[in-house]
Amino acid sequence: MSSDNLEKKIERYEDLIKLGQLASSSLDYKNIQKKAEGKIKKLLDCEKVVIYLYDTKSELLTHNFYKDTKVETVEVKIDEHTFLGSCAHYSAILHITDIQSDIRFRKSPEYLQAVNAQGLLLIPLLSKGQLLGVIEAINSHSGEFSNEDIHFAEAVANQMTMSLENFQLFEKLQKQFIQVVESLADAIGKKDAYTGGHTKRVRHFSEMIGRELDLTYEDMNNLRLAAVLHDIGKIGIEDSILKKEAPLTAEEFVIMKDHPRLGYEIIGHIESLSEVVDGMRFHHERPDGKGYPFGLKGDEIPVIAMIISVADSFDAMISTRPYRKGLAPMIAWQEILDNKGTQFSEKVVDAFDTAFRKTKMFRPEKMEKIKKAG
Ligand SMILES: [Fe+2]
Repeated sequence: MSSDNLEKKIERYEDLIKLGQLASSSLDYKNIQKKAEGKIKKLLDCEKVVIYLYDTKSELLTHNFYKDTKVETVEVKIDEHTFLGSCAHYSAILHITDIQSDIRFRKSPEYLQAVNAQGLLLIPLLSKGQLLGVIEAINSHSGEFSNEDIHFAEAVANQMTMSLENFQLFEKLQKQFIQVVESLADAIGKKDAYTGGHTKRVRHFSEMIGRELDLTYEDMNNLRLAAVLHDIGKIGIEDSILKKEAPLTAEEFVIMKDHPRLGYEIIGHIESLSEVVDGMRFHHERPDGKGYPFGLKGDEIPVIAMIISVADSFDAMISTRPYRKGLAPMIAWQEILDNKGTQFSEKVVDAFDTAFRKTKMFRPEKMEKIKKAG
């Protein structure tokens, strides 16, 4: 072997190690996938790499192409009519040197024609015989994928399979954890005079806002959990106040205001939940400093807490209490907007506004009627 070849081979092994490090670096698979595609492209020295994931529900291979702000999803059936489908159908590596003369080319995704694809290398991602996805490598720069390329592609597939297995396991555990915590929080909710499902709705509205703010995968997980746990401290508030079917007196309100501190006593010591704890602890703070329990101001308040504050207030307004009827969502929405920058963070209100307009609750025509009647 010439020294040039040896150097190239070493470089490829180094790239393979880097890919392994990337694949195990985070549980945010969406983030890993994009970077992995770039790394695999370099490793296999080809024009383009696309990783498809198998969706067990729809039984389709899917890939999201992101163009500016738009998402385009390509879906491929598992059958012999396309290259991708055949690879998945037979759970076998597929190496085709002249795809355009192959009948399956006609039914293949459009981008294959757009890049003027010639050679294709498809590797299935399999975990204990179950299909997880397919890696598609297009057009080798050296004309044709070599046996060595295929050997490396198999190693790459092993790493990506492991990363996907970890991700799926984490998602499953996270889901179970949220469900357990949610039923716990709901048990407290039953003590409360709120109508049922407050915890679930606060989580739902928080997620809506979080998505508009383009939070990272990790922040979204923290937000979800903090939203579910935001009133956990109410477990320490006496029933006579919690279950009171009338507005609270000033003294009772002082006791009620202690719930973020009580919540901190319950979950504050859990190290791995520090950001979740802050989201819970500061959800009654206000950017103008008039909130409680600390009177924090502006950026001192973590964004997760500010999101929960809007979601919680919105749900409190639209919920019917024993002593008052819930407001129409449009009125509650206007109320949130009117308190932008004082009670609520500006950027969180903007995100809430964008998210709200996408829901069925947004009915401007109803607002006109309410205004006329009022
Ligand atoms: Fe609260």
